[in-house]
Amino acid sequence: MRKKIVAANWKMNLTLAQGEQLVNDILAAGIKLPEGQEVVIAPPFPYLLKVKQLIRNYPGIYLAAQNCASEKSGAYTGEVSAEMLRSVDVDYVILGHSERREYFSETNAQLAKKIDQALANGLKPIFCCGEPLEVRKAETQNAYVAKQLEESLYHLDAAALKNIVIAYEPIWAIGTGLTASAAQAQDMHAFIRSSIADKYGREAALGLSILYGGSAKPSNARELFACADVDGGLIGGASLVAADFTAIAQSF
Ligand code: 13P
Repeated sequence: MRKKIVAANWKMNLTLAQGEQLVNDILAAGIKLPEGQEVVIAPPFPYLLKVKQLIRNYPGIYLAAQNCASEKSGAYTGEVSAEMLRSVDVDYVILGHSERREYFSETNAQLAKKIDQALANGLKPIFCCGEPLEVRKAETQNAYVAKQLEESLYHLDAAALKNIVIAYEPIWAIGTGLTASAAQAQDMHAFIRSSIADKYGREAALGLSILYGGSAKPSNARELFACADVDGGLIGGASLVAADFTAIAQSF
């Protein structure tokens, strides 16, 4: 059966001391992770080593980076390669977050290269997709997301696809307090899964974890995670509060 995952995306928040405190509070809360469920923490780059140290003895808790370079190595000042991330024991990497697409002009083609770098270095990409508000209003969100999947993922073979996690994050729901309704989330997740089935077959689609992101919080996580095709969440704001994040992680 596919994994259930709740991932914390800290974005550009917290000092090292605050981040350590947050991780320690989450660990102290003693989240119970049944077989097949994972927690993933994605702190900013400078804290990766420290967070790995803190979580090392907690089975089921993994480390993610929030981005990686599209190139292998070389003269790319300020970039961090997938190989570097793997060398400090990072497990996952968030790729294609809408904030990266919008503020740093990341394209579907560039993201395909990042996906390849991540996979070549043993990192599991958490590939984000999702539509802006005007697309949702025009009711063309399925075509919009299908294009994101096609242009960044569909060059992969079925074996590589097994290492991918997809996060559906409707842009209009990120940090806005507007959550997709459970029905809206389920519709899109089912659409993503059927698109993957069309391309890679039913077994690949059934094995794929698809997370929801966008104003997820303790009060709505249970309803979202109860949807048949929602396999967990990618959590922004609420992941910065230990009690909220641990409550969400226990909402299956
Ligand atoms: P919020 O949970 O703050 O809406 O952010 C969602 C998100 O972007 C996670 O990657």
